[in-house]
Amino acid sequence: MLNILGAGRAGTALARAAQAAGVPTRIAASRPPGALRLHLAQYAPRATAVPAECIAADDARTAPGLPPLVVLMVPQEELDAVDPAWLRGAVVVDATNRWDEEPLADWFRASLEAGLSSSEAVAARLPGATVVKALNHVSHWDLDTAGRSGAADRRALGVAGDDAGAVRRVADLTARLGFEPVVLPSLAAGRALEPGGPVFNQPLSAPALRRALGLAGS
Ligand SMILES: NC(=O)c1ccc[n+]([C@@H]2O[C@H](COP(=O)([O-])OP(=O)(O)OC[C@H]3O[C@@H](n4cnc5c(N)ncnc54)[C@H](OP(=O)(O)O)[C@@H]3O)[C@@H](O)[C@H]2O)c1
Repeated sequence: MLNILGAGRAGTALARAAQAAGVPTRIAASRPPGALRLHLAQYAPRATAVPAECIAADDARTAPGLPPLVVLMVPQEELDAVDPAWLRGAVVVDATNRWDEEPLADWFRASLEAGLSSSEAVAARLPGATVVKALNHVSHWDLDTAGRSGAADRRALGVAGDDAGAVRRVADLTARLGFEPVVLPSLAAGRALEPGGPVFNQPLSAPALRRALGLAGS
């Protein structure tokens, strides 16, 4: 089960990509499920709407023994309204991006000023969650077409985290969605995936992405 917090351009594109890959999906937004019905009928017809506070709640289709997997696709300027308790115990894929024009909550700004990357700032805000940075440096248009390219010319996407099991799980999801996962050494290293970095919005093969990031094996 894939859980997506945020049902805008990115969240619904991910839901469609998951649907094409046969991955069951739950999705939440700031609006309650009833108010999302028409929106989802148009943009993510097979996703099940749930209240945001239930996005990481146990579901019969969550693999037993594994923590829920939640992709965070809420604009960073809105993250102050995301209650950290909703995500406690989950593997959280931080797919959000730092845009200069977006105002930030004080906790976020303080973490960035202390030298953290934006995903480390998100992780500091979410005690009890395991944060992995991924799925942020691809546009929603390219998420939509991912599964349709052949295995030979798969686009690579970075996966950065400090917990090997969580990173492996997110890399598996990335592959299932039709991309070639490239693992970075740590959550802090995920700074290279942010806007303005060498791979943001660049359709690169795995060797080219590794080269651009200066990773071994390139
Ligand atoms: N767009 C892309 O191509 C793309 C690709 C990769 C990553 N990203 C990143 O993903 C994030 C979202 O981008 P987007 O373009 O999808 O934004 P968007 O179209 O504005 O959608 C934002 C979504 O977040 C929901 N939301 C806002 N506050 C919330 C809250 N407190 N709790 C739950 N849900 C909340 C909104 O709910 P409502 O629908 O109820 O308003 C909406 O569904 C950004 O950080 C962006 O940089 C975007």
